[in-house]
Amino acid sequence: MKVLVPTDGSESSMKAVRMALDMAKHEGAKITLMSVAFHATRDFDEMPPNIQDKLDVAARNALNKAKAVFEAEGIPVESVLEAGYVPANNIVEKAREGKYDKVVMGSTGTSALKEVLIGSTAAKVSAHAPCTVIIAR
Ligand SMILES: Nc1ncnc2c1ncn2[C@@H]1O[C@H](COP(=O)(O)OP(=O)(O)OP(=O)(O)O)[C@@H](O)[C@H]1O
Ligand SMILES: [Mg+2]
Repeated sequence: MKVLVPTDGSESSMKAVRMALDMAKHEGAKITLMSVAFHATRDFDEMPPNIQDKLDVAARNALNKAKAVFEAEGIPVESVLEAGYVPANNIVEKAREGKYDKVVMGSTGTSALKEVLIGSTAAKVSAHAPCTVIIAR
């Protein structure tokens, strides 16, 4: 079983990472961690300087944080870093082209307000993924 785990470093996504670790340990699932760095499609004059560098670093840090959970237990894991304007599109495309059986992700992410029940990335992926999507909360 192939499982794709999109992660943005948020608490909710780390729940998904731990769930995937259990699937690897107990069900022999092959896990791929994936972080998508937000990339603007054009330069905005209003964008603070170095914002793109910061977004790239944040995505890389999210991936490393998730990887560390697997490495601590000696469980092999793949990881993928991509860039995109709509991260959900990268995730859905990866699930499709990699023929994943499941996507395991968090309900909310880094921009979560307390009132938000489900973030837009989780909503889009669960609506458009070609496979089962498990939302950790
Ligand atoms: N850039 C990303 N790369 C990989 N996975 C992501 C990314 N953004 C979100 N996710 C995944 O989606 C889950 C839900 O996050 P989502 O972005 O939907 O919520 P939010 O940040 O609270 O709201 P929004 O982004 O809509 O303002 C996260 O827990 C994580 O698993
Ligand atoms: Mg988000």
